[in-house]
Amino acid sequence: MKFELLLENWKRRIKEMSEGKPKAAVLFDGAGFARLGLEQAGWDCTGFELNPIAHWLGSHIGEGKSYLKDVRDVDLSSYDAVWASPPCQIHSVANNQQSATEGKYKVDLLNWSLEIPQRFPNVKFLWVENVSKYKKKENEWGSVYNAAQFGEEPRQNRNRVIGGNFPEPEVEREYKRYYYELKDKVCPAITASEWKWSKTDKRRANRWFYEKLGRKATYHELAYRMGLDEVPSEWDEVYNKLLELEKLPRKERRDSLSDIENQVGWSQEYPNTNLTTKRWRNELIRAIGNGVYVPMAKRLGETALKDFHKEE
Ligand SMILES: C[S@@+](CC[C@H](N)C(=O)[O-])C[C@H]1O[C@@H](n2cnc3c(N)ncnc32)[C@H](O)[C@@H]1O
Repeated sequence: MKFELLLENWKRRIKEMSEGKPKAAVLFDGAGFARLGLEQAGWDCTGFELNPIAHWLGSHIGEGKSYLKDVRDVDLSSYDAVWASPPCQIHSVANNQQSATEGKYKVDLLNWSLEIPQRFPNVKFLWVENVSKYKKKENEWGSVYNAAQFGEEPRQNRNRVIGGNFPEPEVEREYKRYYYELKDKVCPAITASEWKWSKTDKRRANRWFYEKLGRKATYHELAYRMGLDEVPSEWDEVYNKLLELEKLPRKERRDSLSDIENQVGWSQEYPNTNLTTKRWRNELIRAIGNGVYVPMAKRLGETALKDFHKEE
């Protein structure tokens, strides 16, 4: 009898385990946009990110399961899928807020990412995402998608190459580099340097916002255009606390400011630079512009999940 009970428990446990969500590692997690899309699709996601500020931002997105860790030190042997968004191959030179350590986030890990299944054959699905380049040949390592292909009401025209090993997702419209017919509804690609905007700068989405609204976009509006319906309240809380602090005399600010700087990873990333509302906003915009369009990650995740369950 005792043995039967044990067997029964064991069978139940196996069933529970097999019905659990499949696991996805999200490498280069940034502020967690790709992870959010995969979570929405039904994956159990764990992020890995090296930049302490991006990591703090991401820890308030979705389930928030993310570790501050170099992706090269992650053991992927227990994951069914991997999403990797290595640092973009095109770097903005219009970035004068770089810290001395920032170079370490820009090591080219595109091939390292594409070779993951050779190191971890257990990984059934791999999405490696990066910016698309103008020369077709340079995008041949994957397929080019436009964010505006995903969903009835797309929010952004954002071209990205996705390589690796994954089933092709269904899309609402055929690929085009630019959807002229949607130009009033869909904003151009949001760059990580959107904060460094000027009215004449054609390279940034803010120009589109300026034409529409007579002002640049808020970080809430930019996040919405990335497919994030609501900005985490913690991001705003920091902004509001900084606003309050800035009203105090300098001497009285220091302790509270240090607390906030430690909390969000600012003191690690920029040890000699005080955090201000403006710097915080710029950091948020940088993380948003670096993100993955959430509905695109969601659709890719859903398609792979269907395949995953078919195979079972
Ligand atoms: C393009 S962003 C990723 C955006 C993210 N997938 C999203 O959707 O929000 C690239 C990120 O990789 C991080 N990164 C660069 N090198 C890394 C490494 N070796 N280990 C972990 N993260 C790294 C950068 O700090 C940056 O946040």
